[in-house]
Amino acid sequence: MNHNPILCAIDTAEMPRARSLIEALSSAVGGVKLGLEFFAAHGPEGVRLAAGNQANVFLDLKLHDIPNTVAGAVRAALALDPLFVTLHCAGGAAMMRAAVAARDDRRTRLLGVTVLTSLDDSDLAATGQNGPAEAQVQRLALLAKSAGLDGVVCSPQEVAMLRQSCGKDFLLVVPGIRPAGAALGDQKRVQTPRAAIAAGADYLVIGRPITEAPDPVAAARAILAEIA
Ligand code: C5P
Repeated sequence: MNHNPILCAIDTAEMPRARSLIEALSSAVGGVKLGLEFFAAHGPEGVRLAAGNQANVFLDLKLHDIPNTVAGAVRAALALDPLFVTLHCAGGAAMMRAAVAARDDRRTRLLGVTVLTSLDDSDLAATGQNGPAEAQVQRLALLAKSAGLDGVVCSPQEVAMLRQSCGKDFLLVVPGIRPAGAALGDQKRVQTPRAAIAAGADYLVIGRPITEAPDPVAAARAILAEIA
């Protein structure tokens, strides 16, 4: 692996905390993830302010709307030159193709969100989706690939399956990572950084094991050492 695969999830709406974490971690991680909580509170200007010198920002916006609207949102987000932007695969092939066209030749990679891990098979059935969840994840990832998306966000349990079905160049970005012995928090099905990379993950999204460690920089470096 010739890049630092750790993307630190900065899950806070507090600007001072986001800024200080991102600044401290700048040389220890490959990028940072800012999601809807932060974006709803601070908007694009807030992202610029918090990111500072960190060039690799994963904007986890989980876009899902008609193609024209999602294309417009992607175009607007490009002003921030993010490393990744997310959109829901369930928005359909035309929506994903419109996002890819809007991205044009910029470096930003577009990642699909398949089935939220908060949903189980009965939730899928209640929303008229064919389960089991694993089959739906596979279906949506293949749809994303055929629509031109660069990859998907997936759980540690799905990495090996999607690496097999979507090929070696499809980006697999994986949350639910816990170093051996770390607190699980609300994560139930986790994998260690080393196991996730071995299964085929390109990037690891890691939040609390870094952000809530007494020394976040040391925690990030220890995880990197575990992978190397
Ligand atoms: O603190 P922790 O390492 O659990 O943070 C993981 C990050 O990845 C959070 O931002 C969480 O919202 C996100 N995520 C996840 N599971 C998914 C999708 C995203 O934990 N299936």
